Amino acid sequence: MQQEIHFVTGKGGVGKSVIAAALALKLSRQGKKVLLVELGDQSFFKDFFDLADVGFQPVEIKPQLSVALWTGEACLREYAQYLIKVESLAKLFFDNAVMKAFINIAPGLPELAMLGKITSGPRKYGPPMNFDCLVVDAFATGHFKALLAAPSGMAQAVQIGPMGEQSRSIIRVLRDQSITKYHIVSLPEELPLKESTELSEYLKNEFSVEPSLVMNKVLDVNIPLSSLKNAETQTSSDLGLFAQYLEQQLDRQQSMFKQAGTNFKTIVKVPLFFETDPWKLVEKAVEKIP
Ligand SMILES: Nc1ncnc2c1ncn2[C@@H]1O[C@H](COP(=O)(O)OP(=O)(O)OP(=O)(O)O)[C@@H](O)[C@H]1O
Ligand SMILES: [Mg+2]
Repeated sequence: MQQEIHFVTGKGGVGKSVIAAALALKLSRQGKKVLLVELGDQSFFKDFFDLADVGFQPVEIKPQLSVALWTGEACLREYAQYLIKVESLAKLFFDNAVMKAFINIAPGLPELAMLGKITSGPRKYGPPMNFDCLVVDAFATGHFKALLAAPSGMAQAVQIGPMGEQSRSIIRVLRDQSITKYHIVSLPEELPLKESTELSEYLKNEFSVEPSLVMNKVLDVNIPLSSLKNAETQTSSDLGLFAQYLEQQLDRQQSMFKQAGTNFKTIVKVPLFFETDPWKLVEKAVEKIP
């Protein structure tokens, strides 16, 4: 089976990690072996799910569902090791002061290494990873664009040789919609939706892919409009004021859906859940993901 890659991105704080976890859990329940990947130096899921540790090597947290944290440096290290084969030689190469300086100044090198690792399955390059799906809890929009731009930067800088060829093969995977799916998480609010729309334009223009939108924390209240209107007549009470506020929020939400509909073909709505238990929250989100 061809490995699938799901990127989950969006503005900071909109619920990327929760949605990524829900998507990963959903796929694992469909019988797929899933790896939920965090990018960066710190694990969110370690604290969120109260796990013993989250590092470069996957750890299973549910049947068919594992989690890992990939830093740029760890991905580069693994790449160097794979190329050089002999671990002690790779160490020598990697821990060399000149090499360390190069890694820190080369623009986009950690990003390139992360993408190299993420796309290694479909490219059949590097240490094999035994997963059907990778769900990447990716960076927020700005940094995510920089991540995706890294291989084309490298391919332009080095046209020939293995680095150039690999960068081009990474780009091919990023553009292949049968392998790579993009999920942009937003809130039904102006700014997150604006950022989501801009990112979606970028993805369409640069990679010819069609991202889907996950509208998160949607107010999903089953109060008939007549009851709201009725409560609003009590203008001197908190209930009346709250009813007014709620109606305005619902109106605004409606106009956000309309706006989103002009840019996204697929929109998934996930309600705002009044749930404090992390797994229960993720479970509830799973039910809303098609
Ligand atoms: N549908 C939802 N209903 C209720 N609470 C939610 C929902 N989605 C996310 N949350 C809560 O909102 C907060 C932010 O979610 P999360 O950490 O997933 O966002 P993020 O986009 O990953 O943030 P960051 O940009 O910091 O990585 C968390 O406390 C999470 O539990
Ligand atoms: Mg997060």
